[in-house]
Amino acid sequence: MLPKFSSRAFFAPMAGVSDPALRLQCKQKGAGLVVTEFTNIHSIIAKEKQLEENTETIQEFIEYSEQERPISVQLFGSDLFALEKAAQIVEPYFDIIDYNMGCPAPHITQQMAGGALLQEVNLTQQIFSTLVNAVKKPVTLKIRSGVTDASKFLFREIAEIAEDEGIQMITLHPRTVSQGYSGNADWNMIKELKEISNIPIVGNGDIVTPEDAKTMIDETGCDYVMIGRGAMGNPFLFEQINDYLKTNSYNEYSFKDRLDLFFDYLHLTNQYKIKFANIKSQAIRFTKGMKGGSKLRSKITFSKNIEELEKIMNDAYTLS
Ligand SMILES: Cc1cc2nc3c(=O)[nH]c(=O)nc-3n(C[C@H](O)[C@H](O)[C@H](O)COP(=O)(O)O)c2cc1C
Repeated sequence: MLPKFSSRAFFAPMAGVSDPALRLQCKQKGAGLVVTEFTNIHSIIAKEKQLEENTETIQEFIEYSEQERPISVQLFGSDLFALEKAAQIVEPYFDIIDYNMGCPAPHITQQMAGGALLQEVNLTQQIFSTLVNAVKKPVTLKIRSGVTDASKFLFREIAEIAEDEGIQMITLHPRTVSQGYSGNADWNMIKELKEISNIPIVGNGDIVTPEDAKTMIDETGCDYVMIGRGAMGNPFLFEQINDYLKTNSYNEYSFKDRLDLFFDYLHLTNQYKIKFANIKSQAIRFTKGMKGGSKLRSKITFSKNIEELEKIMNDAYTLS
């Protein structure tokens, strides 16, 4: 059974972005579910021995904290044997096992994983059945609508198979793999998926304001919404969506509030092994839209260590 979610707004998995510190912030600001960055099933298996012998804990290679719960772990890779094993290795630690069938990056699709799987109906069926039979925890799925414009409705068949095989929730990002992030997400497809499904549907794509979230829910009937890029450098969005859905109004936050939140993020990163380059990218996202922001961002880019970055971000208060 799926856990109970405290909010209808979920934080999307984003490789290099949704690190455990940012996920925790999104959770603290009201996200109903957070999902790890996608993880290669073979890299999980490679750690099996260390985990069994207790020389390493799972947190050392998939970092997360208890405060993030409910937390979903996202897997990719299509080797059935490896998939079964990897799912069983991570199962004890996570509340949901999510399977990635949306990633458009060529280095993923070329190894018959991510979005490329949408056109492999038989293999897909085996993947779902393998996962659902391997673990007792709920298995969910994240998909794009299709591979190319000519196959943009593949989600219909895949969703039907998923439901038949026991997948418990589907997130749809209604763009094709070949679209990448161009054009608009076609929310009509989320509506259609909701109409043909008997399991919860999570609508995803292009939500950047609380109003967008409400519009998607109203127009598509989806059970939950998932936000990726709109929450980058802006975890306040979850609180705002929750308030807007409840009361039709929400608090606005200033750049100063965003900077405060960045320092809170920085403090949280102490507990994890997040690369400095990734922390700098987060700093850039927290300053998006700020007056004098482009100068600030170039300084951030050239900063060499946390101390330098802290000083630059402290100076930014005079801009906000
Ligand atoms: C930098 C980046 C990394 C992403 N990594 C993942 C990932 O690891 N797994 C996944 O399922 N989707 C990934 N996505 C896709 C997002 O989860 C989401 O489906 C997409 O960005 C559309 O939602 P949005 O318009 O709210 O950003 C990524 C997106 C971005 C921008």
